[in-house]
Amino acid sequence: MKIKMQDISKSFYGVKVLKNINFDLEEGEVHALVGENGAGKSTLVKILTGIYLKDSGSIFVDNKEVNVGSVKDSIDLNIAIVQQEIATLPNMTIWENMFLGRELKNSWGFLDVKKMKEITKEKLINIGLNIDPDIIMGTLPIGKQQLITIASALLWNKKVIILDEPTSALTTKEIDVLFDTIRKLKKEKVSFIYITHRLEEIFEISDRISVLRDGEMIGTNKTSDVEISDIIKMMVGYTMHDRYPKMKNTSGKTILKVDNLTCEPLYRNVSFELKEGEILGFSGLMGSGRTEIMQTIFGIIKKDSGKIIINDEEVKINSPIKARKYGIAYITENRKEEGLILDFSLSENIVLPNLKAILNKMKIIDHKKQEKLAEDYIKKLDIRTDSPKKIVQTLSGGNQQKIVVGKWLTTNPKILILDEPTRGVDVGAKYEIYEIMNELKEQGVAIIMISSELPEIIGMSDRVAVMHEGNLRGILNKDECSQEKIMTLATGGK
Ligand SMILES: Nc1ncnc2c1ncn2[C@@H]1O[C@H](COP(=O)(O)OP(=O)(O)OP(=O)(O)O)[C@@H](O)[C@H]1O
Ligand SMILES: [Mg+2]
Repeated sequence: MKIKMQDISKSFYGVKVLKNINFDLEEGEVHALVGENGAGKSTLVKILTGIYLKDSGSIFVDNKEVNVGSVKDSIDLNIAIVQQEIATLPNMTIWENMFLGRELKNSWGFLDVKKMKEITKEKLINIGLNIDPDIIMGTLPIGKQQLITIASALLWNKKVIILDEPTSALTTKEIDVLFDTIRKLKKEKVSFIYITHRLEEIFEISDRISVLRDGEMIGTNKTSDVEISDIIKMMVGYTMHDRYPKMKNTSGKTILKVDNLTCEPLYRNVSFELKEGEILGFSGLMGSGRTEIMQTIFGIIKKDSGKIIINDEEVKINSPIKARKYGIAYITENRKEEGLILDFSLSENIVLPNLKAILNKMKIIDHKKQEKLAEDYIKKLDIRTDSPKKIVQTLSGGNQQKIVVGKWLTTNPKILILDEPTRGVDVGAKYEIYEIMNELKEQGVAIIMISSELPEIIGMSDRVAVMHEGNLRGILNKDECSQEKIMTLATGGK
């Protein structure tokens, strides 16, 4: 099946976010769509899947004009989307999620639960997940949920699949499985629109690359004709020389010591030290216990045993409020559930952890102070919005992530824990987040960064701790850090 989108335009509240876009998809092709946060990528594919309606322009399927007026229209056309913000039903099982609205019935007209579970199991195995279809969705880490969403799109669709940032929560191993699946389906003439900020990926998987900037189509190229630097230049509009800022060694005295921390079955006997002015990277596969250790330090998860020592004194942290008293800030990996209140405005989200600073003498929120603080951070983080009053839900995914970061920076932390801080963030904005990290480091803030992107971990960390199945397998110094070394430790090798 071939698709052509012609002269597509779209505005939200008078702001034009897509300007006469032309985009086409060949049969059996992977067409990558890239661009900075807010460039209009998600909006374009949402128009193709009937989630948003276009203002003008036409859509053709196999040279015939079609009307995509609803999600159902796109399903009827055999176009499926795996959205950027994971949209699973957390209280239902995996198989219920996969068959929602399309339940199978047996010849008696009853739900054929057995069959649905069987099919689910098989589809999960295809995508490298050997897990029980009866597991409740919400109990799984986001990476797994993301894979399941992809498996269900593959289950229902055989023609066009749109993947909007499918790998942002996946590990290298999971990405390999996904890419194998894509390659297999390409041979069966399935076409893919592939949106990602991980530019290395598109060179591995795509046939063509289109670049959007500020709602305009900058160009479409064959992947084999261009290099990563060409694409970055098209995305940002100028030549970017470095992907990471120049970092100095600013490590000072030890501020945090974790001694034999254990919380079965999540992790055990974890010991490490963190110094002021240091960035300690945490690497490991999804589910290796990295996030859970940080949640313990932040008082979300209770430990079984072990010590947390801050400035040479053992501390008991049994709640995030306590953690913040000790100067710890935690930026979560899951912005949708933990990081942001989506129907609050941008400024409300930014000032939320810092309410004290914006209260007036009567202990009432001083809206002027709130706006001022929010505006400072919008500028500092270069969040693209027309107003601080904008509801967070309507911002692009990457801009939402910048707010998650900004929100905690307002609290002036001494220990800053960042869990996948640049997930879904474009190259330019990533650099901005790196620069903020570097600035904080130079001010003596101790930073822990969990990241699944190996180049980022290596580019930013002074030392890298590697986890495997709940065990801390080793801590590598900057000069002994390589992708191979990290992967070997992360997969249980020596
Ligand atoms: N429902 C909406 N209401 C108002 N504005 C919106 C809405 N959806 C998107 N926008 C705006 O449209 C622009 C394009 O957003 P879009 O989500 O398409 O960007 P994107 O390229 O997918 O970015 P990212 O890489 O961050 O996901 C942004 O400025 C965004 O704020
Ligand atoms: Mg998007």
